[in-house]
Amino acid sequence: MKNLALIGAAGFIAPRHLKAMKDTGNNLIAAYDVFDSVGIMDSFFPESSFFTEFELFDRHLSKNKGTDKEVDYVSVCTPNYLHDAHIRYGLRLGANVICEKPIVLNPWNIDALMNVEKETGHKVYNVLQLRLHSAIKALKERIDSEGRDTKYDVDLTYITSRGNWYYTTWKGDVKRSGGVATNIGVHFYDMLSWIFGKVQQNVVHVSSHDRVSGYLEFEKARVRYFLSINYDTLPEEVKLAGKRTYRSMTIEGSEFEFSDGFTELHTETYKDILSGNGFGLKEARTAIEIVHDIRHAEPQGLKGDYHPFAKLELASHPFGW
Ligand SMILES: NC(=O)c1ccc[n+]([C@@H]2O[C@H](COP(=O)([O-])OP(=O)(O)OC[C@H]3O[C@@H](n4cnc5c(N)ncnc54)[C@H](O)[C@@H]3O)[C@@H](O)[C@H]2O)c1
Repeated sequence: MKNLALIGAAGFIAPRHLKAMKDTGNNLIAAYDVFDSVGIMDSFFPESSFFTEFELFDRHLSKNKGTDKEVDYVSVCTPNYLHDAHIRYGLRLGANVICEKPIVLNPWNIDALMNVEKETGHKVYNVLQLRLHSAIKALKERIDSEGRDTKYDVDLTYITSRGNWYYTTWKGDVKRSGGVATNIGVHFYDMLSWIFGKVQQNVVHVSSHDRVSGYLEFEKARVRYFLSINYDTLPEEVKLAGKRTYRSMTIEGSEFEFSDGFTELHTETYKDILSGNGFGLKEARTAIEIVHDIRHAEPQGLKGDYHPFAKLELASHPFGW
């Protein structure tokens, strides 16, 4: 049984980590969040300590060193721009770290963390849950085994509607979340590069507060993608079915079915890491390079090979920012 600590315990994703820790038979020693709405902890670890001040959390974990409550893993579920600082804390405490996606906002943050891994002898693991999705694993095996010498044509569409709240939280602030490609898309860019190999071209056609659309060429695929958090960009039939999310990937014109099983993969992630596998900083790098480059690209408009949804009318920011 491993001892864990959790930073960012009051947020949306934290319950999936608490459940994963419980499902894998491990123990939460202490949690920390600047916000104290954490009654959810009763459903998983009522015995755990909880702090709203970093210094008290640190004192508690430091005092536990050398006892049977010494922490083996620190899990990080805080806003994206704080990940690297919280990872460094966990490593320097003498623990391994399990961190949410995107592991960091910029490629050079990965280099800095690699140095701290070396300095401390501890390791960082990233939640890259799509690599553990059974249909996606099967797709990778299929593409690896086909050994084609021409590239696959892929269209990826992911629309996950978010309300106006999104724009007044850290998630709607590019400096803190990285923007739509980084915050929403990183899973998919990781999946694409994992399956189709090295990036050869990265072109952005449209980029705004609520969507990003572009073209990515990998060793084995040409991908047109459209990602959006705006409900109005959903296809009519999806809206009529009362849904707010639409996920589609076509490969050579055939639909690849992967609509389910996205939200149940944290327990698999913990099992994978705690059994000695897991995805580290090295594995996380390509997707972080892709999202960094998208964030800083000059959108070139509707030129070249663009996703059909890139033509959709742009929306103004709900608060006029
Ligand atoms: N893997 C996935 O499918 C998935 C899904 C959603 C979010 N995420 C990632 O999980 C992380 C958290 O996202 P969320 O949706 O839970 O966000 P959230 O805003 O709901 O939760 C973040 C939590 O961090 C706390 N926090 C902020 N600053 C802090 C600090 N300095 N010290 C301690 N706590 C602090 C907040 O009070 C909040 O409770 C993000 O990195 C996000 O990208 C991953």
